[in-house]
Amino acid sequence: MSPVAPPSPRTSAGVDVAAADMEAVDAVIRERLRSDVVLVNQIAQYIVGAGGKRIRPRLVLLFAAALGFDGPERHTLAAVVEFIHTATLLHDDVVDESSLRRGRPTANAMFGNAASVLVGDFLYSRAFQMMVSVNRMRVLDVLADATNVIAEGEVLQLMNMHDPDLAVDEYLRVIRYKTAKLFEASARLGAVLAEAPAEVEDRCASYGRALGTAFQLVDDVLDYEGDPRALGKNVGDDLREGKPTLPLLLAMERASAAERALVRAAIEHGEVQRLEEVARIVRATGAIEATRDAARREAEHAARCLDVLPPSRQREALLEFCVQSAERSS
Ligand code: IPE
Ligand code: IPE
Ligand code: MG
Ligand code: MG
Repeated sequence: MSPVAPPSPRTSAGVDVAAADMEAVDAVIRERLRSDVVLVNQIAQYIVGAGGKRIRPRLVLLFAAALGFDGPERHTLAAVVEFIHTATLLHDDVVDESSLRRGRPTANAMFGNAASVLVGDFLYSRAFQMMVSVNRMRVLDVLADATNVIAEGEVLQLMNMHDPDLAVDEYLRVIRYKTAKLFEASARLGAVLAEAPAEVEDRCASYGRALGTAFQLVDDVLDYEGDPRALGKNVGDDLREGKPTLPLLLAMERASAAERALVRAAIEHGEVQRLEEVARIVRATGAIEATRDAARREAEHAARCLDVLPPSRQREALLEFCVQSAERSS
């Protein structure tokens, strides 16, 4: 069980409509995590066993069900997107030098960078073995594209580090690539499995993209005002790395000249010792609320995309998920 309370998409009556399916997905995950190589098993179990919110697999399941698909491939693809997500986390924590994930020391802190990167590669390639087993070219197309774009997003972000002059559009491009793309692919895969018409599939994908963008915008807010115990990861990591995220970009637009200079210097030098001061400026300028508002607009866009689905409990749960993603504090 995860030490982090997992928010799950529920209907307004509080029913987790994907609960039974998620048990099947967990069984696939356990089964396909196995390897003859002891260290692969150990690290993969370590990070997957810590839980996580399992948002992306739920998107596959909910869209597939909302569009009338109930074949076993939905469980395989739900596990695939969780494996890809987990691989990106193993790599991301190395790149970000993070020490806490899902309420535990990161795999890189426990087992070292080399082992984390290599087991991330194992999870990626296991995900590819599994997606091939579904035997649909469209599925391969969607996931090959998504993993490639995620990698581009992480590299773009690396190039943008310590740049206080980053344009807001460039920041948005990074989060659409590194985070929203996998949400988009997960939602799209549900529609692909159900063989939905192209315009329906695209609308499902738009939902995922907007939801994922909202989700990362809030993640970037929580790095300044979140509770590490609730989040299961440290706050302040973005500043330490000199990441120009939207809360900082908006704070600089709104701050006095002296405050702007302080935030600029903190981004340029990754001054985490300035976290308190920077967080105060981010709050006082209204940048936190403005970033949340941007997340709310994305979540509202996602909600409108759901018009393409027939009414169902799954559609209700997907709608509820929009609200949770913008308002979440963990
Ligand atoms: C973490 O994703 C990485 C981001 C995109 C911010 P999640 O918040 O979905 O991570 P887990 O799976 O629940 O740990
Ligand atoms: C998440 O990015 C990693 C990917 C989406 C690949 P971040 O670095 O912003 O997220 P956390 O805070 O480590 O979860
Ligand atoms: Mg990170
Ligand atoms: Mg990162």
